[in-house]
Amino acid sequence: MNKKLSIFGLSEIKNEKIINVEPLKGGVSCEIYKVDTTTNSYCIKKALKKLRVEKDWYADPIRSYYEYLWLKKTKKIIPNSIPKVISYNRMKNYLIIEYLNMSKYSNLKEDLLKGKVDLNNLNKLAKKLLYIHKNLKSNYNKKIFQPHNFNFIKLRINPYLLELNKTYPELKKYINATVNLLRNNQHTVIHADFTPKNILVSKNKQIILDAETANYGDPSFDIVSLINHLIIKLLFVNKNKKSFALALKKIFNTYHSSVTWEEKQDIIERSKTLLPLMILARVDGKSPVEYIKNNKEKNKLRRIALDLIKIQNYDFDTFVNNL
Ligand SMILES: Nc1ncnc2c1ncn2[C@@H]1O[C@H](COP(=O)(O)OP(=O)(O)O)[C@@H](O)[C@H]1O
Ligand SMILES: [Mg+2]
Repeated sequence: MNKKLSIFGLSEIKNEKIINVEPLKGGVSCEIYKVDTTTNSYCIKKALKKLRVEKDWYADPIRSYYEYLWLKKTKKIIPNSIPKVISYNRMKNYLIIEYLNMSKYSNLKEDLLKGKVDLNNLNKLAKKLLYIHKNLKSNYNKKIFQPHNFNFIKLRINPYLLELNKTYPELKKYINATVNLLRNNQHTVIHADFTPKNILVSKNKQIILDAETANYGDPSFDIVSLINHLIIKLLFVNKNKKSFALALKKIFNTYHSSVTWEEKQDIIERSKTLLPLMILARVDGKSPVEYIKNNKEKNKLRRIALDLIKIQNYDFDTFVNNL
């Protein structure tokens, strides 16, 4: 059989004939495929205009271009933790990335849901995040990534944070103040979807994927995203609570204690202010966590978040110890 295979009008990659195309299980915002050629495998990714969610939700697909830029830049900073990007097609807005041999990796979200907590791996991940933030801070990168801040507002600030005003009108002041903190602390390029589902791990290795919301913003958003997901898993996985708690304290400290672009205390305060709203966003925002279904569990998260908002200047380690 001599079937001509193509994807997005492409029948060859680097002069290698495409012999197989198969969709990958992605999130809600992209088309993503594994493409085999006669000699290699690639991953082709294209951001969707309309996200695959229940309510109509649109976002500019130029995200693929910013993912391309982020991959290019971070590959130079932490080469072993970033898949190699082959090219970006500006006309058709898709990315070609090296295909990672998935039999070598597990997805961090899946590991954590099984209660597998690798302290060393998570700590290295926090260090890498810090390293990326440190190295991408520049006026040049600001010029490149700031034009993409509108998608951060559309995909993060509005659906996660401002959405909460509907359920919690009494928090309006707190929510607005937090959003202003994010807006007014544009220190470096942030990933903006730095959550376990977008991290692949193997022994001693961490691979970071899915930077389509990359923008010039507040780095506290990234570390809080990771911490938030770990907190929710600590509460609902019912396994290895102590390891989760240890990892949370370690990550929080590793990241914040090495910040150099601003006063450490300033970013710590912002992270602590943002965290309860990010917890609430996973229950009452536009993108709730899919594995928490019953109201008792949802209320537990709500209570934890609202308590944190009430206690001004809580101690992070004490908070985690009491979870
Ligand atoms: N370069 C790659 N090589 C192999 N698999 C990949 C690669 N990039 C993504 N994937 C797989 O596709 C999934 C979705 O990719 P991701 O970039 O997170 O897209 P989405 O925006 O759809 O979440 C990943 O969790 C991973 O399993
Ligand atoms: Mg993803």
